[in-house]
Order: sequence, then C-alpha cells, then structure tokens
Amino acid sequence: MTTVSKVLLNYQEQPIGVAQIKQVGWIIESNQKNVFQKTYHLQIAEDALFTKIVYDSGIIETEESAHVTIPEGLCTLHSSKEYFIRVKVETSNGDESEWRADRFVTGVMENSEWRAPFITIETAEDKNHSKGYYLRGSCHLPKKIAAAYIHASALGLYHLYVNGEKVRDDEFAPGWTSYNKHLLYQTYDVTEFLKDGENTIGAMIGAGWYKGNMGFVRMRNHYGEQSAFACQLQVWYEDGTGEMITTDENWQGDWGPVLFSEIYDGETYDARKEIADWNKNGCTYESWQEVHAISVDSKILEAQSGGMVKEMTELPAKQVILTPEGDTVIDFGQNLTGWVTFTVKGDKGSKAELKCFEVLDAKGNVYLDNLRSAKQTITYICKDDAEVTFHPNFSFQGFQYVKIIEYPGEIKAENFTAHVVHSNMRRTGEFECSNPDINQLQHNILWGMKGNFLDVPTDCPQRDERLGWTGDAQMFCRTASFLMDTYTFYSKWLRDLEADQTEEGGVPHVVPDILTGKSSEDRLLKDGSHSAAAWADAAIIIPWILYLTYGDTTVIECQYGSMKAWIGFMQEHSVGHIWNYKLQFGDWVALDAEEGSYFGATPNDLTCTAYYAYSTGLFAKMADIIGRTEDAAKYQKLYDEIVETYQKTFFNKEGHLSVQTQTAQIITLYFGLAPESYRRNVVDDLLKLLKKEKGHLVTGFVGTPYFCHALSQNGHTKEAYELLLKDDFPSWLYQVKQGATTIWEHWDGQKPDGSMWSPDMNSFNHYAYGAVGEWLYRVAAGIECDEKKPGYKHIIIAPHTGGGLEYVKASYESIYGRIGSRWEENEQEVTVTVEIPCNTCADVRLQGAGEILDDGGLEFTDESGVNTAHTGSGRYMVRYRKNK
Ligand code: BGC
Repeated sequence: MTTVSKVLLNYQEQPIGVAQIKQVGWIIESNQKNVFQKTYHLQIAEDALFTKIVYDSGIIETEESAHVTIPEGLCTLHSSKEYFIRVKVETSNGDESEWRADRFVTGVMENSEWRAPFITIETAEDKNHSKGYYLRGSCHLPKKIAAAYIHASALGLYHLYVNGEKVRDDEFAPGWTSYNKHLLYQTYDVTEFLKDGENTIGAMIGAGWYKGNMGFVRMRNHYGEQSAFACQLQVWYEDGTGEMITTDENWQGDWGPVLFSEIYDGETYDARKEIADWNKNGCTYESWQEVHAISVDSKILEAQSGGMVKEMTELPAKQVILTPEGDTVIDFGQNLTGWVTFTVKGDKGSKAELKCFEVLDAKGNVYLDNLRSAKQTITYICKDDAEVTFHPNFSFQGFQYVKIIEYPGEIKAENFTAHVVHSNMRRTGEFECSNPDINQLQHNILWGMKGNFLDVPTDCPQRDERLGWTGDAQMFCRTASFLMDTYTFYSKWLRDLEADQTEEGGVPHVVPDILTGKSSEDRLLKDGSHSAAAWADAAIIIPWILYLTYGDTTVIECQYGSMKAWIGFMQEHSVGHIWNYKLQFGDWVALDAEEGSYFGATPNDLTCTAYYAYSTGLFAKMADIIGRTEDAAKYQKLYDEIVETYQKTFFNKEGHLSVQTQTAQIITLYFGLAPESYRRNVVDDLLKLLKKEKGHLVTGFVGTPYFCHALSQNGHTKEAYELLLKDDFPSWLYQVKQGATTIWEHWDGQKPDGSMWSPDMNSFNHYAYGAVGEWLYRVAAGIECDEKKPGYKHIIIAPHTGGGLEYVKASYESIYGRIGSRWEENEQEVTVTVEIPCNTCADVRLQGAGEILDDGGLEFTDESGVNTAHTGSGRYMVRYRKNK
C-alpha cells in the first residue's frame, strides 16, 4: 500500500500566510521495498471538495517529489483566502495512493495590497523608555461571517487579541529582522474569534529588539524611537462579499501595566495599571489617548508563514534551595531559555520579584557575574488578593535558577514552572548510544539549540548579548539541521544577512546588525570592524548546508547576489590571494591563545585564506548547480589560485604546514587544502599535536567543529572516538561530568574546583562547541548525504563502529521521509539496521566488515575495499563478522 503522508508547502505543513508558492513537496510511505515515484498529480482548490480548482498539474511523470514548482502564471491565488492542496502519486511498483489533502491560507499577495498604517501612542518623549501599551479598535461586521484573517506586524513586539482573547500562541512577533529593510507580518485565522455585529481588536505592544536597549555596548533605539503596530482584517461574508478593516486614526491606546520590558533586563508589570476589558466590546474606560501613524514603506513587508516563536516545552521546578548566603532559589534542573511562569497571591501593591540566572558558584550561592549588565529581573505587582499566574510579555531569560527577591506568601515549588521558548521547528533528528555521557552531550547540544533559536540564531540567551553572531550560526548550522527542520528559520535570517551587508559586500559580525560602527571604543567593534573569516562566511556556508540538507536550489538563487558580493569583498581586500582584514576573531577562545587573550594561536592570514578558499570553492559549485556556468568557471579558477597560494605560503619545503597548531591542520584537511602528497604529513602532525596535549583538543571556534572529521576522514576514526570520549579538561565530556545541561562557551567555564572562568564572557548556553553533534549523525551513525543528489535523495549509510560503544541508533526525518541507522556490536559481530525512505536510494557501506553473515536481502560487493550495497527504500538488517 502506498500513501502520501504529508504535503509540505514551502517546507511547511498547513502554512498560514503564504504569499508565494516556492515549492511543494510530499512524503510517500509504503509497506513495499524499493519504491519510487512514477507520477504525481497535484491540485489546488478554493474548497475542500476540490470543486473549484485553481491549479491542476495533470498527471506528471517524474520522480520529483520534494521541489515541485508551479509554472508561472498557472495558479493565481488571492490574498487572505483559504485554499486546499492535494497530491496523489503512482509508484514504480504500480501502486496508486489516495489523495492527501491539506489546507493553507494566503497572506497579502502583493505589497501594494497592504493598506494598514502603523499606529502608536508614543511620541518623541517616549524614546528613552520601554513601557508597554494597549491599542484597540472596534469594527461593526454587518453580516454572517464565513471566514476572516488578520495580517499584523509591529515596530517592536505585539500580542494580538480579538474580543478579549489572545489570538494564537505566538510570542515575540514579528520576530527580529533588519526592520528598516525587511519586516515580517504574521497572518491569523480569526474566523472563530469574530461574530456579526460589534467586535474589538486589541494589541499589546512592547519595545523589544526594535527600540529597547540592546548590544553589549548598550545602546537603545537601534531601528527607531517609537514602537508601532499595524493590522488589516479581511472578512469574507457568507453572501460572498468581503470587507477590509485596518488600524487607523480611530483606534485608541493607553499605557498599561507593563511599566518596563526589555530583552535583557526583564519586565516590571503592575497589575494595578491594567485597564479592565481593554480588548473587549463595552469597555468603560474613558481616558483613551489618540493614536497617530508612523510611516513605513509597505515594500519592506514580507509574509511569515512558519517558524514563529512559541512556548515549546514546560518544565516543573525541581527543588527549592536555601543557599549558604540565605537566598531562596528555585532550581529547574535544566539550563534553558524562556521564562518562569509563576502563580502569586498577595494584597494590592505587594510584589513578586524574581531574578533568573544560570549557575551557582562553588559554594552553592547565586552567581550573577556572567550576566554582565543584563538584569533578567521579573517584577509583578498585585492589584488585589486574587491568585494570578504570570510570565513576562516581551522579555526572555536564560536560566536554570530563579532567585526569589520578594514574594508574598509561602514559596512552593508547584507555583513555578519554566517555559522553554523558541522558534517552532519540527524535530528531525534523534540520536542515542550505549554511552550515557555521549547521550547527555547530545541532550546538551539539543538544549543549546533550543536556547539559541529564538527567532534568530544567537550566541547565548542570558547576558547582554543574545545576538545573531554569524560565526556561531555557521558553525552550528549542520548540527542544527540534523536536529530540527531549519529551512524556514535560516532562510529568513539569510535575507537579513544580505540586507545588512555593506555596499562592498562585507558581512557584519552579527545579523541583524546592530553593532557595525556603533562603538569606536569597544575592542571588537573599533575601526567599524566587520567581515571576519569564519563569521562572515556564514553567507556562503549556510546556503550550502541548506542545499545539502534540502536539495534546495531556491536558497542558492535567493542568496546568489549576497554570496557573490561576499566573495567579491574578499577578493577586493586580498593581496596576492592572501586575505586578511581589520579585526579578525581567528580561532576564537582557543586554548592555545596567549594568557588572558581570546585569540587562538593560529595566525589570521592562514584562517582567513583557508576560509576564502573554502567559500570560493563552495560558491563555484553553487554557481554551477544553478546553471551560472560563466561564474562557475570564473570562481573555480579563483579557487584554484587561492589554494595554490595557500599551499605555497603555508607549506614548507618538507611538506608540512609552517603553522603547527591543531586548528591549522584541521581546517587544511577538512577544507581539502593540502596537496595530496602532503596530506599524510598534515594528518601525522595533527596526531602529534594531539599527543602533545595528551589526547586533548586546544582548539577554538574555528578548529573544534571539524576536529573529529579531520581524523575520521583520514583513517583515524579510533582517535576521533578517543577525542570525543575524553572526559577531563579540556573536552566535550568534561562539561558533562561537571553537570552541564547545555553547551558551554568555554572549555573551562566552570573549573574542576568550582571556580569560574572570567565573568567577562562566560556563557553556559553557547551552542558553538555543540557543532560536534553532526559528527555523531554523519560518522558514528553514518547518515550522510551525497552532494551530487542532495536533500538525501541519494543517501550514504556508512556507520563507523568504535569508541567501545555497544550500540548507536539515529534517525533523521528528511524531506523524503525517515532515514534510520542503527548498529550494535559485540566481540565478534556487528548488526546494522537501516531504514531508507520511499523515492530515495542508498549506498550501505559496511566499514571494516569481514564475512557477511546475513545480507538482509541486499547484495554486497567490494567497492574500494568496503563492502557496499545499493538499494532503494525499505528496512534492512545486515549482520557481519568484524574484520580482524
Ligand atoms: C560571542 C561569540 C562571538 C564572539 C565574536 C562573543 O561575545 O558570544 O560567540 O562569536 O563574541 O568573537
């Protein structure tokens, strides 16, 4: 039997707010093996019964099931309407599926159809504060409503209400983008919220990233001095007519209970300032202020139909602690990002005040220094003695612990719950093995991701930073893309990367960029610095990883100009193909740095030029993929020249790198920059450097992500496992042994004696070193994609047993369906179980296999010394004797 189990529109299920159908894909399931799609039939209609069809592909003979595009002009969709999409397929074994149908809702199809002005009550006098305010508007809907959709956005943050109820569970809408160039709006189905007659739409507005005090140099109003809100409601009546209602000068507003709310510092909420029924019909409040409009060019608006931030997970308090210094602290047992939701009951004017933080010090006392200037404080002031449950509206915290500064009544654990807040992304990867420490590492990597994917990929969620550091994002992208479906998240962020590039194509250190040129005194920002190797290369590497993971060429098309500009920038500023520029971060926070320095020992000329080569090579490939043959040839030539220069400059006559650091060897190997005849030397040197450190890494941001690969790709899987399994300082598992529940910024964030690395920069939730996660999937479990048939259309399953592990099992939900790989080994034998989704094929490669005891129905032949079988979809179990 064959079924279509999922239909994905722009990689999302049932999206709301689609302004363009970029591609359609679906997942085929079957109880048969070796199933391929033979034909598909795709229809889009205005009704669930598909009587009013607006697009019909007819029966198309093709294997394409993941990136189906609709020829231009053949499918006209109107704004603010519900549509239905359905797909059926016929497979190679003659089976035919039933139709699989789903709904979607359009956004505003043309920006010229955006009618809603942005309104505010803020004036020039409000530029220096971050108060929240209410806005409300009423409308009379004369007839029975068939459907209704609101499109809304804000300069700042908003929560949307209709007739007193919060619409959908979105948080931090409209997200963080380069607001003045790119602003997202969200679409809400409000059919059930409205009734014929009088209706009230309300919005609560906060300062957020738009005008709050942001950045480690602490400046406010990065995008503007007044926050504002806009929405347009499209109502469709049962009689077939429609009406649009927008924010306008008839709306009203006033300051509300949010006395202060900012991303870093927390929120002060005075419930005595609530206005009763502010968002309902019949509100009797009389002192509403007038609103005024703020001009926003509707051209910058773009629909967001997925990946909204939400409360994703809930954790109960684990214990209430009394510290030696006498503080009462709630412990959630997990470092996380989001907020504490608490229940409080107190007299009018009594206060609950909580401070969120990450770690206790060696003595078990509250440790706040690593938050730097971020206050992370929530204050709730009671309006009467009713019991209330509260969490901040426009602020999030990075924390495991909450210090109770003030609280009316008894402090009971059950009154405190942590809500984990991040962008809503489908979980795609699972990994487990027989070693509990590796499983904890895997857990920490996942939680590092949950903690730093709050609308933009951030470095950390707790101190006065939480910025879209490009380097951190680039390093973690491949791991993240195993763990969750990152397509929508990263492709949105890449638009901002492009928007914030300098005229010359330079890439800022953080995206959205609130740093470039902001402080001449800061050590990282002086001279208007931007464009650091490994950071700025996010412009190339992230589109490339999305291409590998999703087989997607639209991201290459979209980012092409941005990528080309970045390569052009490096070309312009390189001298004889050696690239270096202003301030570089180099192998950031490597342990081979000089005492007290953050900059690792590998020289910038080498790291910069290595990345220049790597990015140029990837760009040449991407140009070729989308048929830009001239560019492909041009940049391939440039790549060859850079590599030649690299080899001439950094290799000595004896064929060794002149720079003897772990990182120099690692990137030379992983980026393929060594002449073939010298590769062995580089591998040997890396092994020597590793031995010198007694098997420990001393690498920073640049070397760490690829360390295990540099070993396993060069015949040293055993050493890669040994490195991974080290558990004394410095190592991945050292943190695990210290009780970490997320990934730390520093190998020694907390030292064996409990003392801390400098408070200056010591995050306990920094995903960068979690980049080792992809090695677990790609090498230990052996789920690898083939760049010739990306998106896992052709899968390479090559598990690498080792490390004394008894078993490893992993799965990845690809755009074709679930890929699984599991191995178990004992003294003599290995059993490998693989799962290959329909409409894909795979090579199953058994590394180090001796006699095959059970081929599971696959046909193995020796391919370059590795027992390899080619197969289509299905589940296969193979047993072999280990090679002696
Ligand atoms: C961030 C890093 C970032 C770095 C740049 C730090 O403050 O937290 O993760 O990449 O600055 O060097």
